[in-house]
Amino acid sequence: MLRDKHIILGITGGIAAYKSVQILRLLRKAGAEVQVVITPAGKEFITPVTLSALSGKPVVSEFFTANTGQWNSHVDLGLWADAMVIAPATASSLAKMATGVADNMLITTYLSAKCKVFAAPAMDLDMYRHPTTQRNLLTLQQDGVTLIEPADGYLASGLVGKGRMEEPEEIVRRMDEWFESRGELKGKKILITAGPTHEKLDPVRFIGNYSSGKMGFALAAECAARGAEVTLVAGPVQQNTPQGVRRVDVTSAREMHDVCVAEFPAMDAAIMCAAVADYAPESCSERKIKREKTGEMTLRLIPNPDIAAALGKIKTGNQRLIGFALETDNEQANALDKLRRKNLDFIVLNSLRDPQAGFGKDTNKVTILGADGREQPFPAKSKTLVAADIIDFTL
Ligand code: C5P
Repeated sequence: MLRDKHIILGITGGIAAYKSVQILRLLRKAGAEVQVVITPAGKEFITPVTLSALSGKPVVSEFFTANTGQWNSHVDLGLWADAMVIAPATASSLAKMATGVADNMLITTYLSAKCKVFAAPAMDLDMYRHPTTQRNLLTLQQDGVTLIEPADGYLASGLVGKGRMEEPEEIVRRMDEWFESRGELKGKKILITAGPTHEKLDPVRFIGNYSSGKMGFALAAECAARGAEVTLVAGPVQQNTPQGVRRVDVTSAREMHDVCVAEFPAMDAAIMCAAVADYAPESCSERKIKREKTGEMTLRLIPNPDIAAALGKIKTGNQRLIGFALETDNEQANALDKLRRKNLDFIVLNSLRDPQAGFGKDTNKVTILGADGREQPFPAKSKTLVAADIIDFTL
């Protein structure tokens, strides 16, 4: 998959830089064109002569090339690349990436890159564990960077722990795997619901819930990135439409239902991620409802259509239907009951009891249950990575 791909290999100032030579060799062997960009500190660990000899290109490090005065364009480099890998990525460079401190050629190139970015952190175990580093790593993941986590083992300091840069073979394998996954859903049409629904009471009030839409939008972005044609039916949310996604905005459960039922027959799969209101006010007042002078006020609610169940009824043998269950108690049994009742193929279970799951969070921790009895728990991850797991497991 790496043949003829344009790869930027970013090298920062850590002892693991000696392994970057091996990454370069493996990428070249796989047929990739590699442009090395090295930070000033990186050059203290490995010489540009070695890197340019192996890449067949002059190594870029400064904004200007000293002897010719030529300006090195980070914008052009960012546009040229199909992927960028920063290995090793030191704590300092990760912090600069997370906050946009563009004081060297590598970070400016990172900020200009439109392509996929991988980073392989390498540092001492205490630096890796430090809340600052962990915060920066989470920010970078949320920005779409794929982290190739360091391994446990002997560190240059003599200490033993997590912080050793992952082996070059594994880094290159992960990149190869990513390129392979890109076309995986080509030709597939996928319907995704996201966000809450708002059920109007009067012109100024509604019944709603705290759903942010983040999980559904992450799923839409990942499906589109893998080549699928995505229709995203979104309730009222503050989220940017992911690239290449067709978005249909709705407000109420009834509207969401009507769009989904109309769209589903043309789809290969539907992922029901929206937090749909179960009930709506019996009627919506044309005027603002006035406060009762005395006593209580009673609202009559009528049930909304269950969109997932409606799609479950019209589903053909060639279509997949995936639902979500957000439970506070009796999680497994409730989720399995929903899976059967709505005729789903998979249900993604997240528990409100879990501090890393739920509304508005950037992370999620899920277990996927299949109609075939399969059950797969996943560790807490960014919603982008959870989306990748869900797609890998269910589509
Ligand atoms: O029954 P419950 O609301 O817990 O089920 C959750 C699953 O069903 C989610 O996938 C949600 O998107 C979907 N759902 C729906 N229409 C409803 C209620 C839930 O599509 N009215």
